[in-house]
Amino acid sequence: MRTKKVKQAKETIESSDLIIQTPRIIKSDLPIVLEIGSGKGKFIVELASLHQDKYFVAMERDINVCYRILEKQQDLKLPNLAIIPIDAKDLNLYFNPNSVEKIYLNFSDPWPKARHHKRRLTAESFLKIYESILTTDGELEFRTDHLDLFNDSIEYLKTSSFKITWQSLDAPLRTAVSEYELKKRENGPIYGFIARRQV
Ligand SMILES: C[S@@+](CC[C@H](N)C(=O)[O-])C[C@H]1O[C@@H](n2cnc3c(N)ncnc32)[C@H](O)[C@@H]1O
Repeated sequence: MRTKKVKQAKETIESSDLIIQTPRIIKSDLPIVLEIGSGKGKFIVELASLHQDKYFVAMERDINVCYRILEKQQDLKLPNLAIIPIDAKDLNLYFNPNSVEKIYLNFSDPWPKARHHKRRLTAESFLKIYESILTTDGELEFRTDHLDLFNDSIEYLKTSSFKITWQSLDAPLRTAVSEYELKKRENGPIYGFIARRQV
């Protein structure tokens, strides 16, 4: 995804106490819910506002869009929202094994070229990391408008410990909606699945 450069993004993010700056294990008495590739954060901020009984973590590696999550959090100061400006490959530095109840992947980059498939957030190496941090019955919830990514992701799950509990070629709206979902719904169906970790 191409993103607009925000002049002050880097220094604002690096100096904000609303951002988790250095790797540390995230702990909460509340169930932990993680969104990977949060973009500008509309979805996770809406969820965190609606569900004060859970602790939400937004993970976004592009500081220019991560800055937009920070802006929302500066306004709302939600006590149950943390923001990590990192790449998902480093998840293990932030989460203990068996500590995350749910992971959301919303409109992950499709990486259509075969040589880039390993960068997909549903690729085998990422599924392995998710398996390690999710609780024993933790869930992975995925949405996309990209049919190839959807079908391939279902294939990737077959060699993992995840079992699909729900899937749809016309996924309905949820209580929270991401920037991409809002846009892509105008053009066609949204594909989605929920997969549960099996031990
Ligand atoms: C197409 S956007 C979707 C944004 C948002 N989830 C939505 O639905 O509106 C995908 C986002 O995932 C982020 N992303 C891609 N790979 C990532 C990774 N390995 N770790 C963290 N973020 C990643 C990108 O920077 C981008 O902001």
